[in-house]
Amino acid sequence: VPIPDEKAQSAAAAAPRVKIGIYFATWWALNVVFNIYNKKVLNAFPYPWLTSTLSLATGSLMMLISWATRIAEAPKTDLDFWKALAPVAVAHTIGHVAATVSMSKVAVSFTHIIKSGEPAFSVLVSRFLLGETFPVPVYLSLLPIIGGCALAAVTELNFNMTGFMGAMISNLAFVFRNIFSKKGMKGKSVGGMNYYACLSMLSLVILTPFAVAVEGPQMWAAGWENAISQIGPNFIWWVAAQSVFYHLYNQVSYMSLNEISPLTFSIGNTMKRISVIVSSIIIFRTPVQPVNALGAAIAILGTFLYSQAKQ
Ligand code: 3PG
Repeated sequence: VPIPDEKAQSAAAAAPRVKIGIYFATWWALNVVFNIYNKKVLNAFPYPWLTSTLSLATGSLMMLISWATRIAEAPKTDLDFWKALAPVAVAHTIGHVAATVSMSKVAVSFTHIIKSGEPAFSVLVSRFLLGETFPVPVYLSLLPIIGGCALAAVTELNFNMTGFMGAMISNLAFVFRNIFSKKGMKGKSVGGMNYYACLSMLSLVILTPFAVAVEGPQMWAAGWENAISQIGPNFIWWVAAQSVFYHLYNQVSYMSLNEISPLTFSIGNTMKRISVIVSSIIIFRTPVQPVNALGAAIAILGTFLYSQAKQ
């Protein structure tokens, strides 16, 4: 029988794990809902630059209201904070819009299968750009990740180059975003929730002119009318849902990143993709060939091997 002191110690040790467990489960659930509404919107209204902008705008507005009403305390920031945030925001903007463009062209499951290759990008960037070296098993674990993604890509029934490249660009951009974010949050008084709020705002400023240039109000107005005539007024709720859930899942993921290492974060992220892949295949009745599913499974297994090798 553990003596009371030991009991208190083991309870104290378990508390952060329970907290992270709750963060992870919430993050995945919010992400599944985002992915479903995002795809429903994109199917009826194929303007990913606008939907990406609306997600950031909604999140920014939600946080400004939270600060104004003191639901959340506004962070104290200075010019140095925003300067350090700029590269993170550029990477976040590119990664976000690239993933959304990808999902407008291919099945949600396909985008996320390619995005499960993110650890491979992380190793390559760390090795070739930051000069970090890893033990041999880490490099070996990249083989199933890259091989599995490649197998899934070449056997994808509805392969589309823009869809594929969008997911690849998103992988690369998010590796930089995660590296810079963890550095930016370290030892700073701005916690995960407010850090992500500021990131949303800066990304919104960066993305808006590009969204106007690439798509623009004329296309949006015509597309919107068409979507409303097809779906009815419910379409507005779908857009609201994809935007609100986008902010919420990212906010929770940043609250987790604040507490864990980038490695644990990327493992959590891969497990999140499994829930997204499975649920989107069921909901959108995505046709999958067995060999295609095998590619996805190998890639995901590779990510687990990678996390083991890296530990
Ligand atoms: C986005 O729109 O930013 C992507 O769907 C994000 O993908 P991820 O957060 O699952 O990497």
